[in-house]
Amino acid sequence: MVGQKIVVLGTGGTIAGTAPSESDTLAYTAARIGVGQLVAAVPALAAAPVEIEQVLQLDSKDMDAEHWVSLAARCAVHLERDEVAGVVVTHGTDTLEETAYFLHRVLAPRKPLVLTCAMRPANSVQSDGPQNLLDAVAVARSGRIVGVVAVCAGRVHGAVEVVKQHPYRLDAFCSGEGGPLAVVEEGRLRILRVLPPDSPGRREARLASLPPARDWPWVEIVTSHACADARLVDGLVRLGIGGLVVAGTGNGSVHHALEVALLRAVDQGVAVRRATRCAQGMVLPHGGDVLADSQGLSPVKARIALMLDLMADAVTTSAPLSPPAP
Ligand code: SIN
Repeated sequence: MVGQKIVVLGTGGTIAGTAPSESDTLAYTAARIGVGQLVAAVPALAAAPVEIEQVLQLDSKDMDAEHWVSLAARCAVHLERDEVAGVVVTHGTDTLEETAYFLHRVLAPRKPLVLTCAMRPANSVQSDGPQNLLDAVAVARSGRIVGVVAVCAGRVHGAVEVVKQHPYRLDAFCSGEGGPLAVVEEGRLRILRVLPPDSPGRREARLASLPPARDWPWVEIVTSHACADARLVDGLVRLGIGGLVVAGTGNGSVHHALEVALLRAVDQGVAVRRATRCAQGMVLPHGGDVLADSQGLSPVKARIALMLDLMADAVTTSAPLSPPAP
């Protein structure tokens, strides 16, 4: 039987940020206060069986592979514990969708792993962190949703679909065309739809099989746009890039100059995936495609998927992952 305990892991972000004044919603510093204070600021959690741990303390724009590995390792440890019903991670909004996708791919947990955040700092008059945290704990305790999800502004989003869509509004996240998985109302979860299955072709990626973060392949995103210049891709190839995701226009179309350079990159052993820079929808593959598509993933998530694929390939072939020293 699964226990009742919820572990809240702190990583920083605006939810842990402070501003010089409580009406200042822009000039604040993220990641200033500890996860213990975040939990203490929610009176409704006072009697709840909640355990806390500060794993990281950073502005999530600065998230790196080392941070992801430490966070995933702590999530895995707590999710394994019989007395733990679920884990909540307080996180910055800026790269939350990337961390959610990474955790989904490397942990694929069978318990709830709920990321939450805030768009206003902790000392703001509009502070949204306490309610988001309370909602996240409610989702983790409900036992009705498992796997990695994000909770913000009363909505529950799946890790594959969640995207930050607005730089300022409190309701900053969406799940694209599918809509949220659920809403949280007065601590109760109302399920709107079931978590969609991950893409059938997606490769297994497990935390334990990943090389140290310093050896992860170098994968970047390039954007196709008017006047795109092939020199960007050629330069990255010369520097030893391992993989490229192109954020294409519309249905993943790519400026001809960039496409020629990307095909040259493929010839030189660089893995390339084609996503769309459109905010909604996905690249629909068709017979004449010369570059593989991102299987519905946004550019930032396709970048993570490609890194994981390259690492899985390296395990299979024992090929070195590191690019040659520039
Ligand atoms: C961050 O992502 O850490 C800062 C911005 C935010 O949390 O809204």
